[in-house]
Amino acid sequence: MKPKLLITGGLGFIFSHVTEYFVQKGWDVVVVDNESAGSHLEIIDGSFKYYKMDVCDRSVIDLVLKEAPEYVIHAAAMSDVDYSIREPLKTLIENINANANMFEACRDLPSLKKFIYVSTDEVYGECDHPKKETEILFPKNPYACSKAAGSLMRLTYGSTYPSMIETTAETRFCNVFGPRQDTRKIMPLIKHSLHTGEPIPLHNEGLGYREYIYVKNIPPAIDLILEKGNRTYNLTLNDGLTVHQLIEHAEKVTDKKINTYPSNRPGMDLKYQMDATRIKTELGWKPLYTFDEGLKEYLEMI
Ligand SMILES: NC(=O)c1ccc[n+]([C@@H]2O[C@H](COP(=O)([O-])OP(=O)(O)OC[C@H]3O[C@@H](n4cnc5c(N)ncnc54)[C@H](O)[C@@H]3O)[C@@H](O)[C@H]2O)c1
Repeated sequence: MKPKLLITGGLGFIFSHVTEYFVQKGWDVVVVDNESAGSHLEIIDGSFKYYKMDVCDRSVIDLVLKEAPEYVIHAAAMSDVDYSIREPLKTLIENINANANMFEACRDLPSLKKFIYVSTDEVYGECDHPKKETEILFPKNPYACSKAAGSLMRLTYGSTYPSMIETTAETRFCNVFGPRQDTRKIMPLIKHSLHTGEPIPLHNEGLGYREYIYVKNIPPAIDLILEKGNRTYNLTLNDGLTVHQLIEHAEKVTDKKINTYPSNRPGMDLKYQMDATRIKTELGWKPLYTFDEGLKEYLEMI
C-alpha cells in the first residue's frame, strides 16, 4: 500500500516542490488549495488528487476524514507580510481559522501517523541571537502572529489529546528561495534585475538581516520529519546576510551590477536568526544544497 499524504497549500511556492517530491517517490498525494495566491496550477497533471477548497471552510474537516491520510502537512496560509499589515483582521481570521480546522481534522483522524504544522522564523520576532525552539514567541506583524497562533495550537493539541502527542510536529523555516517564488520577494527581484538591469527597492537601507535556504532542501527535510520527528524544528543553515550583503554577494557570483532605490517597510523586524541544532542532532538532517550552490543554480536558471 502506498502511504497517503494530504498537503494544504500544496500548489504554493514551497509546497509545490513538496507535492512533486512525494508524487515522484510514489506516494498517494492529495492537495487542498484555494488558489488564492502564489499557486502554481501548471503542476496539476493528474499525478495527485486535487481539491480546490478554502481550508478556512469547516467542510475541510470532513474532507480530511473522508480521505483518511496517514500523513498531513498544513502549509496553506496567507503569507504576505505587507498585506497582513494592511489587512490584519482578514489575515488573522483566515490563517487562524485554517490552522484550527486542520488541528481539529487531525485530532479525529484514526489513520494519522504524522501531522506537520508549517510555521516560520518570524514567530520569534526581532532576534539578538540564534533562537532555539524553546524560546519565547514574540511575533511583530499580523502574519507572524497568525503563524504563532498555530504554533501554540500545536503545543496545546500535542499535550492535551493523547492521540496527537507522538503525531504532531512543526517546522520553522528561515527565508526560502528558489524557482516559483513570488516575484515581489527579494531573491526574484535580484534575479529579475540581473536579467533586465531594472533597479530594485531597498527596504530600510538594506539593513534587514535574514537567513536563506534553497527550496530544494525543503522536501527531504519534510520527509525526514514525517518519518521520525515529533517536535518543533527550526530549519536554517545559518547563511545569514543583510539585504545589502545579499545584493553584493549576487553581484559577485554573477559578475553583474544591481541598481537599487531607497524604500521603507514599517514594522519590519531587522533580524531573524535561528539555531538548528535540534534537527541536525536529533534527526540527523543534512542539506542537499549549500546556500551558494542553491543561489548559483537559481540565478543561472532561465
Ligand atoms: N516563503 C518563505 O520563505 C517561508 C518561510 C517560512 C515559512 N513559510 C511558510 O510556508 C508555507 C508556504 O509558504 P509559501 O511562501 O510557499 O506561500 P505561497 O503563498 O506561495 O503558497 C501558499 C499556498 O497556500 C494556498 N492557500 C493560502 N490560504 C489558503 C486557504 N485558506 N485555503 C487553501 N489554500 C490556501 C495558496 O493558494 C498557495 O497556493 C506558509 O505556511 C508560510 O507561512 C514560508
